[in-house]
Amino acid sequence: MFLETVGFAAASAALLLLYYIAKWYITLSRYNLPPGPLCLPLLGSLLTVRFTAFQRQHYDNAKKYGNVVRRQIGPVQTIQLNDPRIIKEAFSRDVLLPRPILWPIHQRNRVNRGATGVVFADGEMWKEHRRFILQTFRDFGVGKFRMEEKIVAEAGALVTFLKAQEGRPLETKVPLSISVANVIASVLTGARYGMDDPQLRLLLQYTKENFEFTMKKIILIVMPWLQHVPPIRQTYRRFMEILHGLNAFFSRPMKEHLENFVPDRNSDFLESYISAVKSGQYSTLSTTEIPLLLEDLFEAGFETTTTTLRWALLMMALHPDIQRRVQSELDRHVNAANGEFATPSEKLATPYAEATLMEVHLYASVVPMGVDHCAREDIQIEGYDVPKGSIVQVNIYFVHHIDAWWEEPERFRPERFLIVGQGQTSEYLMPFGLGKRRCLGEALARAELFILFCGIVQRFDIRLPEGVASADIDLTPTSGITADTQPHRLCFIPRL
Ligand code: HEM
Repeated sequence: MFLETVGFAAASAALLLLYYIAKWYITLSRYNLPPGPLCLPLLGSLLTVRFTAFQRQHYDNAKKYGNVVRRQIGPVQTIQLNDPRIIKEAFSRDVLLPRPILWPIHQRNRVNRGATGVVFADGEMWKEHRRFILQTFRDFGVGKFRMEEKIVAEAGALVTFLKAQEGRPLETKVPLSISVANVIASVLTGARYGMDDPQLRLLLQYTKENFEFTMKKIILIVMPWLQHVPPIRQTYRRFMEILHGLNAFFSRPMKEHLENFVPDRNSDFLESYISAVKSGQYSTLSTTEIPLLLEDLFEAGFETTTTTLRWALLMMALHPDIQRRVQSELDRHVNAANGEFATPSEKLATPYAEATLMEVHLYASVVPMGVDHCAREDIQIEGYDVPKGSIVQVNIYFVHHIDAWWEEPERFRPERFLIVGQGQTSEYLMPFGLGKRRCLGEALARAELFILFCGIVQRFDIRLPEGVASADIDLTPTSGITADTQPHRLCFIPRL
């Protein structure tokens, strides 16, 4: 009897599996999907995913399979676009405006009482919030003098900190993160944090973990039910702990602002948002959205900018000739000895510094695969079918490293962006993405990068520690939503 039951269960499971595989093949055969790596029923291309040098893997796929590549992860179709013309055309279509709402985003929204934030919002919710954020950032002087003053103050504090190290080797991650975090925090909530603030350090840790890719995280996305099974259970618990920690962190300024609200004062973004909610002029703005909205803007704004700055300073240590040229250009135009900082209004006079930052965007490509989009309907791209619900990604790293478009793309060479002494933009350089969902913090990021980078390079000779040669530095980017440098230390020797 027992054997009969086991036999029946095994036969049923085998039949179910056969049915699933047949259905899988029939469904897929309806589509003319783009080429891509080996794809198996249930797992998709999961076996081909590597968790180191992950952008290199997408680069290799682009070289092997062409301009449009498909990689299925479990049941999720992902489509990578590898050609600037195709990317531009695809991202001008409203059908690709949504973001994929996978399991981690459902959890995030649930922990935030049904809020959606802005990065993963859709429809009127996204449109109204995006418009409101851009307008309010403009009102706070983002891209203008008022905002620059705040960044200069932060750059001054960072320079004082670096001087106090007296040239000793320093891991730059935390000090740079805190300066960048202070800029965005001052815009959002008016807060400022000290170098050792434990709350901010915890927030930095949460963000770092949130941005990293690991096999266990991918498995959780594909098979969320494994959250109950060790060892995936630990990853799930940590993920939920981080979501609750972030919600608690960003709920605090909300409570304080609501308690101390003064109508029409609008002293920071949060106060403006509360004023807008109270005005009743907006249909989707609501206090429920506040913690997640702050989290979105903070996370999107600070990890990306810090990482870009870290690459920029590392590149200066590795290329002393380029560093000297940036310094002498700045010395001719900016009186740092008098406490002056280069600001974006100096960009025209300092094209080499600006070209160096553009080269950092190209070289480091800190958001290598952009932020995922999702097809609202079945569509076609370059004659291939992209089924409704597919994730569509821009392979920014590939676009930035293909030798057909860039001469010697692996060599750090700011000169490529100089044309008769002026910084030149290129349609192939797209660190902030493109289309209607293009980065909405671009103006803030560009101002921060210019002021902090020029402020540091003009005041310090940046070197590798004694006994460390350029060849010892591992330039493999980390694998995650952002591509950071490997841990390293730099010496900041005062020049003034
Ligand atoms: C060097 C710094 C930065 C880089 C490289 C960067 C890059 C990007 C990229 C590639 C996207 C995706 C665009 C798309 O979906 O097609 C994006 C979106 C976004 N970024 Fe940035 N970003 C940076 C700084 C910032 C800052 C300072 C903020 C601050 C507020 C910010 C806020 C956002 C938001 C809210 C979105 C989502 C926009 C939407 O969904 O409508 N970013 N960013």
